Amino acid sequence: MKGPDIKYLFEPRNVAVIGASVKKNKIGHKIVRNLLFNKFPGKVFPINPKGGKILGLDVEKSILDIKDPVDMACIAIPEKFVFDTVKQCAQKKVKFLVIITSGFSEIGNIKEEKQLVQYAKKNGMRILGPNIFGIYSSKVSMNATFGQKDILSGNVAIITQSGALGIAMMGKTKTENIGLSAMVSVGNKSDIDESDLLKYLVENKETKVIMMYVEGVKHGERLVGILKKATKKKPIIVIKSGRSKRGAMAAASHTGSLAGADEIFSDIMKQCGVMRAESVEEAFDWCKYLANSPMPKGKNTVIVTNGGGMGVMAADACEKFGVSLYDDTETLKKIFSDSVPSFGSVKNPVDITGQARVGDYEKSLFSAIKNKNIHSIICLGCETAVLDVKNLKKVIKEVYAECKKPIVFSFLGGTKLEHVITHLREKGTPIYSNVYEAVSCLGAMYNHFDTKYSIFHEKKINPADYSIDMKKIKSIISDVKKEHRNFLLSDEAQELMSAADITFPKTYIASSIEEAVASAEEIGFPVVLKVVSKDIIHKSDVGGVKLNLSSVEEVIDAYQAIIHNCRHNKPNANIKGIEVTEMVKKGTETIIGARRDASFGPIVMFGLGGIYVEVMKDVSFRGFPLPKKEVKNMVKETKTYPLLLGVRGEKKKDINKIVDTIMKLGIIIKNCRYISDIEINPLVVYEKGIKAVDIRILLTN
Ligand code: COA
Repeated sequence: MKGPDIKYLFEPRNVAVIGASVKKNKIGHKIVRNLLFNKFPGKVFPINPKGGKILGLDVEKSILDIKDPVDMACIAIPEKFVFDTVKQCAQKKVKFLVIITSGFSEIGNIKEEKQLVQYAKKNGMRILGPNIFGIYSSKVSMNATFGQKDILSGNVAIITQSGALGIAMMGKTKTENIGLSAMVSVGNKSDIDESDLLKYLVENKETKVIMMYVEGVKHGERLVGILKKATKKKPIIVIKSGRSKRGAMAAASHTGSLAGADEIFSDIMKQCGVMRAESVEEAFDWCKYLANSPMPKGKNTVIVTNGGGMGVMAADACEKFGVSLYDDTETLKKIFSDSVPSFGSVKNPVDITGQARVGDYEKSLFSAIKNKNIHSIICLGCETAVLDVKNLKKVIKEVYAECKKPIVFSFLGGTKLEHVITHLREKGTPIYSNVYEAVSCLGAMYNHFDTKYSIFHEKKINPADYSIDMKKIKSIISDVKKEHRNFLLSDEAQELMSAADITFPKTYIASSIEEAVASAEEIGFPVVLKVVSKDIIHKSDVGGVKLNLSSVEEVIDAYQAIIHNCRHNKPNANIKGIEVTEMVKKGTETIIGARRDASFGPIVMFGLGGIYVEVMKDVSFRGFPLPKKEVKNMVKETKTYPLLLGVRGEKKKDINKIVDTIMKLGIIIKNCRYISDIEINPLVVYEKGIKAVDIRILLTN
């Protein structure tokens, strides 16, 4: 059954508060008080079996006694009464249930919570919560929370999974002068989650910036789809807690153990154009700046400073936060030669020197404002004996009022200057004592600028376009499944690689010494011999691998040694044969993988391969599907990339082939739901071509 329009959660025409109380300290009282205090234009219906009056409103004994239709019911009664109340709400045809009550899945009462959701859905209702502090929406002046009553309305929307932190953030928005368009507590996310809310907020005219506090993601694939589109329209900032590696530790592959939930989250958010802030303070700085600053028309930023050191610090910060410094020296000279003394610098950072007076700032900043080649400005300063702080305040105000391009200020000095900074900040000027904070705000603006104007076409990917025989792959997997195994033997993994047209070292399975010798001669020396047995996963540990065999005699000895070692160390192992493989030539060892992530669905990975993979942890992740261009970016992001470009006269490696192979693994995992992990380590990369040396494929249980 299709649920009600999400609009009625943010713009209900009336609200019932079930559990409304005359007692001022009760949550049910505070919600009614907040709704009235903010002059919610719709009707507010307090519900309490005792009846009477609350804050001048008549109290109904049951929701069924209300004559008008009800769009939203806030439920603030003990857990044991909630289900019966939800049934009454269904009878009343309420659209949205905002369940404040705690005591559901967060303490293990999962069944009770599921029952609520199933019942609500069956009856055309949707649930926000449970275990939340409510919802605020400026569009209809609705403060249906039990947080603070006076919320500053504005254009920042906050979605929070944490209640206590959410209430604290609500308070902080007031002190930081950040106006809210919405504040939604999602709590247990039993039904409505970030994706549902984003659909509304992205279209909501009151909202310019969206911030989310996330602890865990339930339906990651859906969220990714929505975020990719949403960030093209509005900046989205996320704070995520929980950098735990616990889940990852249990994973059976490198891809799994490297894919700490946090790394995947970070990379996928980046892929979606979402900016991840490290702290609430950073997120608030970004929100405030993005909500109030104009969009730049281009990427040329200029730094104006009276201190060389501060200029260098800002230039470093620009590199860190992705802000591009304008470096057309001729144009810079024309713009600034009037306001920079001969011993200053008209190169970027433009140094108006320590002798600069406020008038020099005024002159240079207005020159930068007027020039159309400059798209954004970083204005810095150190307090000096010649800098009149009072006058500086006036000029900064004028500059900020006149500037129609992004600008940030950072000044450092004594108490007088700090007062000026505090005063200007209160008035909404983006001025900071810390250069990094100032530049990070501009960096957030350019991050959004890049996302907004990046071209992204997500075409449907067809396995056949990548020479992948999906039918064959599915039949290999189904044969393994029939044997109730959840991993592929190496010959099966190679068969799968053949079906995906991924090259691997020439290999034969021998069941006698004669066959092994014939295979080695066919492949060409040197060769490698490895045991093939479903009972032996870690072959080297039992003496099941012999490398670099250069003659018939060495192959015969190695064959006998492997059989002997395996019989001795794993007496009950069923040995299928001995694999004879070409000894792979040296190249750059990389790792590529694809896995089915519990939160985000199919993901792909690339990084530095070989035995140091878990020590170096030089890997990057992306959610799949994604365009080839993004896969290339993912490769470029790693420290391995310069190695692939070639160092000390080495030739460039076949990066296109890596990208192709990553795409292939992504396509396979996306199309074959029984595969949980595919990993190739090492994937040896040459100037031309690749070789999948060690392939590990795991299946879902
Ligand atoms: N319909 C309407 N009102 C009802 C009711 C029903 N079926 N059952 C009880 N009530 C009334 C009560 O009589 C009481 O009113 P009163 O003060 O006039 O007696 C009021 O609803 C509240 O019930 P009460 O039993 O006093 O509960 P409470 O206010 O102490 O606690 C909750 C209720 C929901 C606040 C509590 O169970 C809870 O979950 N607290 C945690 C909330 C939270 O932290 N959420 C997450 C925040 S991030």
